[in-house]
Order: sequence, then structure tokens, then C-alpha cells
Amino acid sequence: MNRDVLHEVATRMVATGRGLLAADESLNTAGKRLQKIGVENTEANRRAMRDMLLTAPGGEQFISGVILFEETLNQSTIKDNIPFSNLLSNQGVVPGIKVDKGAKSLAGANGEVVTEGLDGLRERLAGFSKAGARFAKWRAVIQIGKDIPSDYAIRANAHALARYAALCQETGIVPIVEPEVLMEGDHTIDDCEMATTRTLKAVFQELFLQRVFLEGMVLKPNMVLPGKGSPRQESHEEVARVTLRTLKRCVPAAVPGVAFLSGGQSELDATAHLDALNRLNDRAWKLTFSFSRALQNGALEAWSGRPENVEEAQRLFVHRAQMNSLASKGEWSRSLEDK
Ligand code: 13P
Repeated sequence: MNRDVLHEVATRMVATGRGLLAADESLNTAGKRLQKIGVENTEANRRAMRDMLLTAPGGEQFISGVILFEETLNQSTIKDNIPFSNLLSNQGVVPGIKVDKGAKSLAGANGEVVTEGLDGLRERLAGFSKAGARFAKWRAVIQIGKDIPSDYAIRANAHALARYAALCQETGIVPIVEPEVLMEGDHTIDDCEMATTRTLKAVFQELFLQRVFLEGMVLKPNMVLPGKGSPRQESHEEVARVTLRTLKRCVPAAVPGVAFLSGGQSELDATAHLDALNRLNDRAWKLTFSFSRALQNGALEAWSGRPENVEEAQRLFVHRAQMNSLASKGEWSRSLEDK
């Protein structure tokens, strides 16, 4: 393991004013996104969707890295047939790869899930590294509900995240460690704070036990939010205050950066929360974005699978990336959205 390289890549991923684009939707999830805009879920259409995002002129100013799905790592641009990973590297954008196999039912648990994909991972990582990936992502899913999350589900997921992270670092790949506490439910922000705290404590305990080099990873957590169905929603400032408090209690300062997922928030809420977080942050870590839906939704709708809409869709995508870049420095304001 070359620790200097891991640290250097992790630091680039959270460089000031830049964040990550998650464009790593599995075949199923990509299908859902395409269905919403009336486009058939075929390999050609998934390639066109990724092509629209990855070739957007100017995106590289605000995007430090892109999380790709395996299929996309093996595809190339439509116009010039340049492998997507080369296109990104040539623009100074770090190519990454989602390596987990999704969340599956956890045996003996009450509807909770555990993320699979450890079998054969060492060999798969070697292949991804050869294909140009410099970082990887593994998403664990924690649900809030009656009597859950259980310690059992939290520990099983934390253990798998650490096994994955250690294998990545052995291969020279920076792991994005993503424990996502879901927004689904009618729970309060306090419930989310408790579930997120329990999860992050368990994750960092496992990362320590499994000898993961903290300076060579990026944490991708949820923001601490009330459930989508909760009657009590909170201000952006309150969400930022509670999220930062939770991170400070759980995340060692050795971790170079935290890149949040958007988790189903609207594009504007995700940006406003990130901005509020950075206005409060006393620079313990870089706090940036690793959004999928909150970077892509508007652009995908504008695109709707039509070549004549690509330019406008790309403009919207780069605008969102720029707004989030500003938010990652605490320099965003609502009035900038209309320009
Ligand atoms: P969202 O930003 O849509 O939550 O997706 C981020 C992600 O990569 C989930 O694994």
C-alpha cells in the first residue's frame, strides 16, 4: 500500500471548491431515472445519459471526481469514442467506481439490510485499477423505524464497509466509505442524530480494527435530517448545526474530507444545507458534495433522451455543480440561482 498516493488522491477528491458526481446508478436504479423521463433502459441510453453529464463543458472546474458504474467504466464517449475514464483523467477529474453489489435482506433481522459484494472483491478491484479507477464506493444502508436500526444491522454493515475499505487500500484505491442513514420515515432530527451517531461510531471502530488508513479515505455520510414524512421539518441552519455536531463527535480529524450524499433532498435543499454547513465549519475537514440526484435531476429532465436537448441539460448540470462548489466554500446564496 502506498500511503502517500492514497492520501494525495483522497485530498484531490475533496479539493477546495470541488466535489464528486455520483453517476454510478446500478442498472435497476438507472432504469428508474430513465423511466421518469420516458426513456427506455437500454445500454445505449444509459451511455447517452452518462455521456451528457461527463462531456458537459466546464464541469471539471467544480467536479473533482466521478463515481462510475462498472458498465460505464467500459464505455466511451459517443462523439469521439474516448473511454470515459480517460476523458475524466485528461481533464484532471479522478475516475472512481462503485463496487458494492447492493443492499440485501439481512438474515434474522427485522426487515433490515446488509450490503453484499465482498466475495472476489480483491480481484475485481485489481481489474478496476487497471481500467483507470483511482477510488471506489461502497454504500451501506441503515433504516430508521420501530426498534431499528438494530446494533446487529449497524455492526454487520460497519464490518463489511471496513473489509471493503481495507481491500481497496491494499490495491492502492481510495475507499469512499458510505454509511447512509435513510430519510424514509416520519422520525425526528433527534432520531436521525442518534442513528447516525451509532452508525459512525461503529464504522470508525471497525475501520480502526481493520487497519484502514484514515488519511487515505473519504467519508460519505447522510446529512442529519428529520424523516421525509416527519411533520416537523428543520431550518437549513439547524440541520447544519446538528450534522456538524454529529460529525465532530464521531469522525477523526485524520480523515481528509467528508462528501455528503443528497439522499432524496431537493436540489436546492441539498445545496443550502451544504452551504450552511460550510458557514459553520471551523475547517476540521473539507465538507463537500458527492451527489447523484441533487446534481442530476434537473439536467435529466431537461435532456429527456433527446440529442437536441443535450446543450441545455449540460448547462443545468454545470450550474448545479457550480452552486454546490460555492456551497462547499460557504459562498452560495439563493439569489445566485436565478442568474
Ligand atoms: P444521492 O445523492 O442521490 O443520495 O446519491 C448519492 C449516492 O451515491 C448514493 O450511493
